[in-house]
Amino acid sequence: MAIFSDNMGKQEIRKKNPIIKPETIEYDTTFENSIRPKDFNNYIGQSALKETLKIILEAAKLRDKPLDHMLFYGPPGLGKTTIAGVIAAQMGVDIKITSAPALERPRDIIGILMSLKGGEILFIDEIHRLNKIAEEILYPAMEDFTLDMTTGKSQTAKTLRVQIPKFTLIGATTKVGELSSPLRDRFGMIHRLEFYTIEELSKVVERTAKILDIKITADGAKAIAVRSRGTPRIANRLVKRVADFAIVKYEGIIDNKVANESLDVLKIDEFGLDNTDRALLNLIIEKYDGGPVGIETIAAALSEDVRTIEDVCEPYLLQAGLLQRTPRGRKVSPEGFRHLGFKAPSEQTKLF
Ligand SMILES: Nc1ncnc2c1ncn2[C@@H]1O[C@H](COP(=O)(O)OP(=O)(O)OP(=O)(O)O)[C@@H](O)[C@H]1O
Ligand SMILES: [Mg+2]
Repeated sequence: MAIFSDNMGKQEIRKKNPIIKPETIEYDTTFENSIRPKDFNNYIGQSALKETLKIILEAAKLRDKPLDHMLFYGPPGLGKTTIAGVIAAQMGVDIKITSAPALERPRDIIGILMSLKGGEILFIDEIHRLNKIAEEILYPAMEDFTLDMTTGKSQTAKTLRVQIPKFTLIGATTKVGELSSPLRDRFGMIHRLEFYTIEELSKVVERTAKILDIKITADGAKAIAVRSRGTPRIANRLVKRVADFAIVKYEGIIDNKVANESLDVLKIDEFGLDNTDRALLNLIIEKYDGGPVGIETIAAALSEDVRTIEDVCEPYLLQAGLLQRTPRGRKVSPEGFRHLGFKAPSEQTKLF
């Protein structure tokens, strides 16, 4: 069971848009755990990652060695926690799940390291938030499987070196840039999770509909996939919501029409954008002629914090090609203009 932390950004998002922000929300952790894929076959997409992992896992089994420490990063809801679970299941080992904010005091991290058994996986979510002391305890643990513990006080203090069983650390973060380089360097594998294609998300949708025991057509699944911002967590959430509509207002089957009508009611447009995303693009177009404009200015005008915009709104807007990042700030792309119902600057008649 994952422990999800509550930083300000996440809280804000929860209040504002419970459905399509890619962050976890309190109410869906149970649902999420119930549909979390447990093996490679059900873990859809991320094929490069899966191929690499299969080889690493096989080699570790053959050599009877614990896996290298691994770091997964990328926007929320793309399957970082899920892949850690798949790896543990595949290796037939236990996984202990925690997150950096829960490891505030030295004894938190020492306690968890001492409790590990040989070959076990320790999963630390939001690992960029580890404090300096915790990081320093972690270095020798990761490198030599030792813990340096200080006993006694000041002059009589002694450092005791304790051996701990060989374990594998899996770290996950949405902000790899905030990881200190000594910590980053201690991971044998660092992998960025990618947004999912429509085809992959359609498979996610179909799989979830099956688990929820609701009938869905191929174009119904695609309609949901298209509006899921490349993110399985959002796809799953939308399936659940559309399934409710299908049962209550339609014949209990999700087809193209049911999916599109329900998603329109939920105000999720054909790019999967919500009101905050549209407000962001609108602001840059209407107030700043399409940009470039600095992120701080955008955040202030939208009364959002910079981190929420950077971590949650932007990655997908950039990926979808609606927004561009330039050295002088953010710019709306011609596609972004058109999506919001404006003419792109190059298409506007120049008066002078
Ligand atoms: N490859 C996948 N195939 C099928 N479903 C997936 C896949 N990846 C993620 N999911 C689904 O999406 C949900 C969110 O995934 P997960 O919790 O692993 O995201 P995360 O990257 O850890 O997000 P966060 O950064 O918020 O912790 C899970 O419930 C899982 O069912
Ligand atoms: Mg996670």
